[in-house]
Amino acid sequence: MNTRVRRDFERIHGRAPEGVWAAPGRVNLIGEHTDYNDGFALPMALPQTTVLAAGRRDDGLLRVHSAQGDGRVTEFAVAELAPGGGGGWARYPAGVVWALRERGLAVGGADLHLDSSVPTGAGLSSSAALECAVAVAYDELYGLGLSRPELARVAQHAENAFAGVPCGVMDQMASLCCAEGGALYLDSRGLDVRQVPFDLTGHGLTLLVLDTRVKHDLADGAYAALRAGCERAARMLGLPALRDLDETELPGALADLPGELVPLVRHVVTENGRVGRAVERLAAGEPEALGPLLTAGHASLRDDYRVSCPETDLAVEAAVAAGALGARMTGGGFGGSVIALVPAERAASVGGAVTDAFAAAGFAPPAVLEAVPSAGARRIA
Ligand code: GLA
Repeated sequence: MNTRVRRDFERIHGRAPEGVWAAPGRVNLIGEHTDYNDGFALPMALPQTTVLAAGRRDDGLLRVHSAQGDGRVTEFAVAELAPGGGGGWARYPAGVVWALRERGLAVGGADLHLDSSVPTGAGLSSSAALECAVAVAYDELYGLGLSRPELARVAQHAENAFAGVPCGVMDQMASLCCAEGGALYLDSRGLDVRQVPFDLTGHGLTLLVLDTRVKHDLADGAYAALRAGCERAARMLGLPALRDLDETELPGALADLPGELVPLVRHVVTENGRVGRAVERLAAGEPEALGPLLTAGHASLRDDYRVSCPETDLAVEAAVAAGALGARMTGGGFGGSVIALVPAERAASVGGAVTDAFAAAGFAPPAVLEAVPSAGARRIA
């Protein structure tokens, strides 16, 4: 990958890159729709990455090219970058450069060439991988010295204000802060993190990713409406965020809320509780005990938060029926991917059972990948 990316960079930009960086996609084990409520999540990085070859330019131009694009180089004048407007995928790298300048950092132009193995539209954070690759490359090329959480805020700001997607910060934190062999216990308030060992192989387990191939689009308004509902509920309860409500206070709080907000609050509060219990189980060296928490999390996303869809529900159901210890949708929802924790010897039969169930239901075949806890963003050459 690295050699190909350097060679392609030279062909496209007519010079050698100054370096090559990689930033991964992620799955979230548990803690969904909690990040924008200042809550907790437990993502892990995937082996699939966005690789970026980059070199500074001194003429104020940002020239971006992607191996997955239409072959053209998209050019921006860095000083004129502004939110809104078109640009397709190129809005993401451009947004990161804009967000760095918004922080008052005097960054200039660059030649970029991107090559990604993170599936797009699968709920595996391909856009965060892209943003984070650009963020770490710029940090180093322009000697910015920003911390990983600061870079995550920059990438999130790019996505929120430049690309217009009102996401939380989990995906960017996962791409930037995860470590090989573990999951990342993220406290979205203050961005405190702890690495939690997740030794699948040592426990005879496999984590499958079942990509339903139903495309989700967080920009479509449903995500923003859910987020606004949570913020309204917190205001009505007189709390800074729903994170400030714990499970013991839940019945009293729900009694004070209008009916439409009750399931949202119930999901967020019980989901934060599930993250805490999952981290305890992993710290105790019992990753198999995550299974029931995953399936309970899915029920909450399906029935209370209502972000699942027939394909994700069927994937969860078929995986569990075929012997998965637990399964749930991962990421924002409205399609995307399901994760299933399975005894290693059943991995092939669980994947097959989900594929068969999709065929019987008349759904397009899912893509089945294995999730291996991998390293966060890094320089690779
Ligand atoms: C998307 C967003 C994240 C998070 C998840 C749901 O992936 O980008 O910030 O809100 O949905 O947990």
